[in-house]
Amino acid sequence: MFDINNQDFTRLVSFVKENYGINLINKRQLITGRLSPVLSGMGYTNFTDYVDHILNNSEKEDIDLLLNRLTTNYTFFMREVNHFEYFMDTVLPWLEKTKKDKTLSIWSAGCSSGQEPYTLSMLMKEYFGSAFSNWDTRILATDISLQALSLAQKAVYSGESLESMPKDFKSKYFTKTSTPNQYQVVSEIRENVLFRTFNLMEPIQFKRRFDVIFCRNVMIYFDQTTKDNLCKRFFNATNQGGYLFIGHSENITSQNLPYEHVMPSTYRKP
Ligand SMILES: C[S@@+](CC[C@H](N)C(=O)[O-])C[C@H]1O[C@@H](n2cnc3c(N)ncnc32)[C@H](O)[C@@H]1O
Repeated sequence: MFDINNQDFTRLVSFVKENYGINLINKRQLITGRLSPVLSGMGYTNFTDYVDHILNNSEKEDIDLLLNRLTTNYTFFMREVNHFEYFMDTVLPWLEKTKKDKTLSIWSAGCSSGQEPYTLSMLMKEYFGSAFSNWDTRILATDISLQALSLAQKAVYSGESLESMPKDFKSKYFTKTSTPNQYQVVSEIRENVLFRTFNLMEPIQFKRRFDVIFCRNVMIYFDQTTKDNLCKRFFNATNQGGYLFIGHSENITSQNLPYEHVMPSTYRKP
């Protein structure tokens, strides 16, 4: 493993924080542990040359590799299940009643390997039943980790990872693959999710505003100012009455944000 000196550590941490929001100031070991194999693979013998390269040349594929290594992509189906219950019991009935054009606009921001948007897609299928195809329920799912997005698009998960879901979901929404103990999400649910690369530090300029934004367990790695700025951008990109779900361990200071706090880690634009 390579050592990193204070100067290179500070340069790298500032670069990642300024461009991607992720604050790694207390993660020296994570940086050296996860990036040392990258340095070796690229033929570098020290962090100074590698950091120079990242800061000066910024070749896209090298940045992608850096982000694949430095992001934490831990996720699972039905994570923080009360959000999904609220989504089913309160949010979808409201959308069904108010969306006359039958078009929903839902964003899983920081979707990692896809379990969150696929959970949402399955729940919408459960909710709308045979009317599912009459609604535009497509979910936008974004992340900065190309590795996580590639797993998400494959949509193949282990048998154990499906255990957190209601029992009948495995038979309804997954098919066995030729690899033992590996299951793929069925095409109807897969096709309902649109995966894209998107850095949450960038301006939010999508065609439509959102009815619901899930951005859970993403901002834990951001400092308060970065979080507050992102939440402002979420607010502006949300339709009236729309919701923002954040992770249970996260908080936003809604002082300057007119979000209504509807339950823990759930906010609504009045
Ligand atoms: C821990 S996962 C959360 C996955 C899912 N939302 C959940 O709650 O289980 C955090 C994800 O946020 C992504 N992320 C971190 N910073 C980001 C940024 N600036 N823009 C977009 N995605 C980011 C990471 O790549 C990672 O996949």
